[in-house]
Amino acid sequence: MNIVFAASEVAPFAKTGGLADVASALPKALKKRGENIKVIMPRYYQINPANLEKFSFNIGVPMGKIGTLWAGVYKTYLPNSNVEIYFIDYEEFFGRSGLYADESGYSYLDNDKRFIFFTTAVFELALAMKWNVDIFHFNDWHTAAGSALLKYRYNWLFPKSKSVLTIHNLEHQGIFNKNAFEYLMIDWNHFNMFEFESLGGCNLLKGGIAAADMITTVSPTYAKEIQTPEFGFGLNEHIKAHSNKLVGILNGVDYYEWNPKTDKLIPFNYDIENIEIKTKNKLALQEKMGLEKNEKKCLIGLVSRFARQKGIELIASSMEGLLHLNADFVFLGSGEKWAEGFFSDVSAKYPNFRVYVGYNNELAHLIEAGSDLFLMPSLFEPCGLNQIYSLRYGTPPIVRAVGGLDDTIENYNPSTKEGDGFKFWEASKDAFYNTVKWAVDTYYLDEGYKIIQKRGMQKRFSWDKSAKEYEKVYKKALNG
Ligand code: ADP
Ligand code: GLC
Repeated sequence: MNIVFAASEVAPFAKTGGLADVASALPKALKKRGENIKVIMPRYYQINPANLEKFSFNIGVPMGKIGTLWAGVYKTYLPNSNVEIYFIDYEEFFGRSGLYADESGYSYLDNDKRFIFFTTAVFELALAMKWNVDIFHFNDWHTAAGSALLKYRYNWLFPKSKSVLTIHNLEHQGIFNKNAFEYLMIDWNHFNMFEFESLGGCNLLKGGIAAADMITTVSPTYAKEIQTPEFGFGLNEHIKAHSNKLVGILNGVDYYEWNPKTDKLIPFNYDIENIEIKTKNKLALQEKMGLEKNEKKCLIGLVSRFARQKGIELIASSMEGLLHLNADFVFLGSGEKWAEGFFSDVSAKYPNFRVYVGYNNELAHLIEAGSDLFLMPSLFEPCGLNQIYSLRYGTPPIVRAVGGLDDTIENYNPSTKEGDGFKFWEASKDAFYNTVKWAVDTYYLDEGYKIIQKRGMQKRFSWDKSAKEYEKVYKKALNG
């Protein structure tokens, strides 16, 4: 199949979260299976054009009343693959310090223009390159409106093409002033409460869901959850109405990047047969973060965006109890300012807690390798990748049983020694604290800890398997 895959972030070129990991790993897996897939993303100005091939032509991107904007095009390959990736270049929109927001965390006010422009450019590029396209695959709100563009504006130019929309996170829907709808240049009759309209504003994800030929989300449980008021962010009924075209496919892991045996970003490589070497990474992590070097003491890691989704309020409100456990904590993350400030204050006052505020891939790998337990108490989690990385690194995760966390982690059963992590259900301080305490006690007292550690290391979440599921979805889209 000929597939064009559009995403607002693709690792390693630009990344704020798991979307970038998926947008890199899934196309590679599909290509390996023989699909003809091309990836398209914006050229944010952090991406150095010197390393890219520049095309001699520009593409015209019609944007309603602001007229046609002319974009440059660059190309290279996803690392360690022969997957072509194209970059849409337009300084006014992408020549900024952040992907979606400025340094203070404020979303850019013209994100509607920026991403409708990018989404439209996907079609204009495909036309300029004379690509034969079976499937346009869009991801999250940034490119969601692409399915409506295909159905109502570019259909006569791509009469046989179908669209697939993957929802990685329903919390962010791309809701703008009604005027944003004009940039799409589709008929105003699609601005209604069953398509783009949401309380008077223009909701790009909502319109995309309505128009997509197939919709996927990144775990089977999340596909069910988003049809309920608790997880639906106001779109649960809308999604229910389109549930006949919705499929949940679990993300895989790029074991080329996340494998303790070969990981170049950690000081000491290890695997099941020499798991004792993991302790050396722990000592390195303790030293790096200014914790007491102590190979026996339980070390709990966290790598996360500091966002409500990730359960940071639950952690903050349980902090006193956590600090009294016989354990050290290493947190890596950035996001909400109150959380950055709060964790930094705790880090300055307590010898058993350290935080690194910012984005640091190398430290993320060291935390996976050096910790004894990994914390992921999300309020909701479409899939989640870090808990899966933790399994591979022999770092049993402590998770709330939602979305992909529920689908990927099996709760420890002390009597049978089955399972590979520690789960809680209720989003309450007590449930959370008691589970962390249970995990710490297990670490010190129970031989079961070592058993689940090894079991997790043996589990595999292969992209090849998920890619096969995506192929089924593409076929379904094509066959109606
Ligand atoms: P989400 O996409 O919701 O943030 P995921 O678990 O799917 O959650 O993916 C998060 C990805 O981002 C992982 O690859 C994780 O290692 C990475 N990550 C998150 N925060 C940081 C950070 N501060 N530094 C480095 N990597 C981070
Ligand atoms: C989103 C979700 C996360 C998921 C990632 C990749 O950012 O929050 O759970 O793993 O997308 O699909």
